[in-house]
Amino acid sequence: MHGGYDVSKVDPATAVEMEFVDRDGSKRTVLAPEGASVLDVAHANDIELEGACEGSLACSTCHVYVDEDTYGKLDEPTDDENDMLDLAFALKENSRLGCQVVADRKTTEKMEITLPQATRNMAVDGYVAKPH
Ligand code: FES
Repeated sequence: MHGGYDVSKVDPATAVEMEFVDRDGSKRTVLAPEGASVLDVAHANDIELEGACEGSLACSTCHVYVDEDTYGKLDEPTDDENDMLDLAFALKENSRLGCQVVADRKTTEKMEITLPQATRNMAVDGYVAKPH
């Protein structure tokens, strides 16, 4: 799925550099226009990040890990984001929802975004719950 913005129209002079670390560990550096969310950036660059609710804070499928440095510079997650994060699979200290983190030259320049091994929706396939 394509969305967010047209990568061919991004102006490198004003763009924000972001690095995505895929589930297999491979890295990709992409340029994002200021104001684009991590989810937009992923979609525009064909990076597999689901974003089922398209940024309306009603899912946790856009869950990503943000490098520690950047995490500290970002605004705190809102209560709504935290509520959704609580539902995310493999939550960590540096977890954020990709649709809520926005490209900004002051905070996200060279940020590293790591995709979780699985999101809750994807984990459903082939997941067998152990009886308690
Ligand atoms: Fe659903 Fe981010 S896309 S909360």
